[in-house]
Amino acid sequence: MEVILKATGLRKTFALSKKQQRLEKSDKKIKVAVDGLSFEAYKGEIFGLLGPNGAGKTTTLRMLSTLIKADEGDAIVNGHSINTEPDKVRQSIGFLTSELKLEEFFTPNYLFDFFATLHGISSTECAARKKTLFERFGIDKFAEVKVANLSTGMKQKLSIAVSIAHDPEIIIFDEPTNGLDVITSKVVTDFLIDLKREGKTVILSTHIFSLAEKLCDRVGIIINGKMITCDTLQNICADTDLETRFFEIYEKEMGGQV
Ligand SMILES: Nc1ncnc2c1ncn2[C@@H]1O[C@H](COP(=O)(O)OP(=O)(O)OP(=O)(O)O)[C@@H](O)[C@H]1O
Ligand SMILES: [Mg+2]
Repeated sequence: MEVILKATGLRKTFALSKKQQRLEKSDKKIKVAVDGLSFEAYKGEIFGLLGPNGAGKTTTLRMLSTLIKADEGDAIVNGHSINTEPDKVRQSIGFLTSELKLEEFFTPNYLFDFFATLHGISSTECAARKKTLFERFGIDKFAEVKVANLSTGMKQKLSIAVSIAHDPEIIIFDEPTNGLDVITSKVVTDFLIDLKREGKTVILSTHIFSLAEKLCDRVGIIINGKMITCDTLQNICADTDLETRFFEIYEKEMGGQV
C-alpha cells in the first residue's frame, strides 16, 4: 500500500483568552489542541479521525490543509511538506467543512469559476469539471441562483463541488454530514464512496460511529490531542462494534471518567 499522507509529531497550541479559560474551566493560558500526533493514510482509502468534542480533529485537519501552521512536526501530503511546500500541498488537496460559508451574493456558476481560476485551471477544463460536478449534485438547475436563496443541502453540495474543482488527489473533510438532513447526508456519503472508487484518498473527521463504520477503511481515535489507536476498522472492531470499542478506549484513557 502506498502512503499518500504521513503526519509526524504534529503539535498545535492556542493561547486562551480569559473567556476561553472560563469556558475550559482552567487557569492555564495555553491549550494544547494537538499533542504530537502521527499517522499515515494510504492512497485510495477512506481514513477517519474519530474523537470526542475538543479532541483536536479539526485542528489536525486544518494543519494538514495548511490553513494553520503546526507549532511542531510535519506532514508529507502527496509528496509535499505542509511546512515548506504549502502551495503544492494545496494543489493536492480539497478541504471541506460543513462550516464553510460561501459568499451569499454570488451564484454557483460564478463561485465555481472563481475557485477554479484560483487553482489555475484552464477554462475548458473548468467547464468540463463544472458540468460533471453540477450534474452529479443537481446544482445545474440552480447555477444562476444566488447562494443566499439555496437550501442548506444545496449550499453544502456546492461547497463540495467548489472545493474539488481542481480534481485533488486527497479530499480532507471535517464532519462531512454535520447539520445535513438524511437525504443530503446520503448524497455526500455516496459521493465519498465514489471518490474512493476513483482511487482518491479521503481523510475525514467524525464523532458519528455509524458513519465511520459505513465509510472508513481505517480509523484513528484521537483523545486530548493524542492518537490513541490507529488501525483498520476490522482490527479495531474485531470482537465488538465501534461504539463499544471507542468507550472502552475512552474510559481507559480518561481513567474511568466518562
Ligand atoms: N483558535 C482557537 N483558539 C483557542 N482554542 C482553540 C482554537 N481552536 C481550537 N481550540 C481548542 O483546541 C481544542 C481542540 O479543538 P478542535 O476544534 O480541534 O477539536 P475537535 O476534535 O474538532 O472537536 P469537535 O468535535 O467539537 O469539532 C479544543 O479544546 C478547542 O477549544
Ligand atoms: Mg471539529
